Amino acid sequence: MIRKVKGTRDILPPESRLWVEVEATAHRVFGGFGYEEIRLPALEPTELFVRSVGEDTDIVSKEMYTFADRKGRSLTLRPEGTASVARAYIENGLGQRPQPLRLSYLGPMFRYEKMQRGRYRQFAQIGIEILGAAAPQADVEVLLVLHTFLAALGFDDLIIVLNNLGDPEDRPRFIDGLKKELSPHREKLCSDCQRRWEANPLRILDCKVPSCRDLVAETTPVADVVSDEARRHVEEVEAGLAALGISVRRAPRLVRGLDYYLRTVFEVVSPQLGEGAVICGGGRYDRLISDLGGSRVPGTGFAIGEDRLIEVLPESFRRPVLERPVVAVLPLGAKAAAAGLGITRDLAAKGFIAPAEVTGRSLKAGLKWAGKIGARVAVIVGEAELSADVAIVRDLERSEQQTVALERVPEVVAGLVRDSENC
Ligand code: HAM
Repeated sequence: MIRKVKGTRDILPPESRLWVEVEATAHRVFGGFGYEEIRLPALEPTELFVRSVGEDTDIVSKEMYTFADRKGRSLTLRPEGTASVARAYIENGLGQRPQPLRLSYLGPMFRYEKMQRGRYRQFAQIGIEILGAAAPQADVEVLLVLHTFLAALGFDDLIIVLNNLGDPEDRPRFIDGLKKELSPHREKLCSDCQRRWEANPLRILDCKVPSCRDLVAETTPVADVVSDEARRHVEEVEAGLAALGISVRRAPRLVRGLDYYLRTVFEVVSPQLGEGAVICGGGRYDRLISDLGGSRVPGTGFAIGEDRLIEVLPESFRRPVLERPVVAVLPLGAKAAAAGLGITRDLAAKGFIAPAEVTGRSLKAGLKWAGKIGARVAVIVGEAELSADVAIVRDLERSEQQTVALERVPEVVAGLVRDSENC
């Protein structure tokens, strides 16, 4: 037997319905705020991520699926979406369109990570980016879109945490201070952090090793060492969110694991999954597009981990999706087969899941099948019914049935389903 690659998943029905509904909700909510979908390749030149996410990040140094193609070009299965959005913005001249440009995306991402709950090697992200808006209002908008989407899914217990990373110009000052504070303990840092000390000291703040985290916890938070302008920016983001009734918490140790961020960074954590499992991450990246060879175009956005989101979906969203009423359509005999499919088409048009029996089962075997697929109602049509333009609608919970004119079948089925939902 061939088995799936470690860290990948088969998402089977009916669980897959949740994915469809979550994605439909994302398109609806994001669309209302003016975000339109951009569909991006899963395969990109490796250099794209080295130059955007950053060489010394865990993602680029340890987690990328990178390989040479048949012509020896180094390609990478995308570990995230923002870099691809920036590349596509430059490559397609999207700066020529009315700005700011609002884009959304969803799809699989790949990271070679240690396996644990909520951490996969192929996972899906749902994200938005707004490009060409430097003002704090764009960060507020992005967080409002996030909050609205999560509310539409029924969440009310998620926590948004936020920090201020300042501007790249603030970094040398911050890093000097950080190194001064850490230098008495330098030999206690892990081997990765020893390397980061020279290559990219900011990444020390992001180290997951507990002893490094303890040392970092004693240092001055990055938000204390930012310019007045950067400070004002994030304060305005917080004020905007407060005006919209969205509560966020400051997280002075939050730095995010990607190099392109500046000023506003944020994450969403679920009390159910605990601190380690972040549902969503995002922030501002005003230098990304210029670092990739485009003009100075500011940007801000977020990406939600769809696998983790679905794991903690509230019952109020989950139940109606998983328990959508099923109607079994049972044509009896060869002559009724096409009529059966016609009934399915009419019921499907009204939003029912109404699979037809197409293997020629008898009535008894057909009803057994209906029970197994969880049908609440069966619509039975044999040759006698066919010639009278009627069908039998059978309530499988109450074991009662009635004969109904064909054109009234969807209406009668709807009535039965509604009744049983109300009990
Ligand atoms: P990120 O924090 O690396 O940010 O990923 C965003 C989310 O993807 C995480 O919060 C998590 O829910 C999910 N995720 C990441 N790795 C895994 C994994 N191995 N298994 C399951 N879920 C995972 C970014 O990717 C940025 N591009 C976000 C962004 C958009 N910033 C600005 N715009």
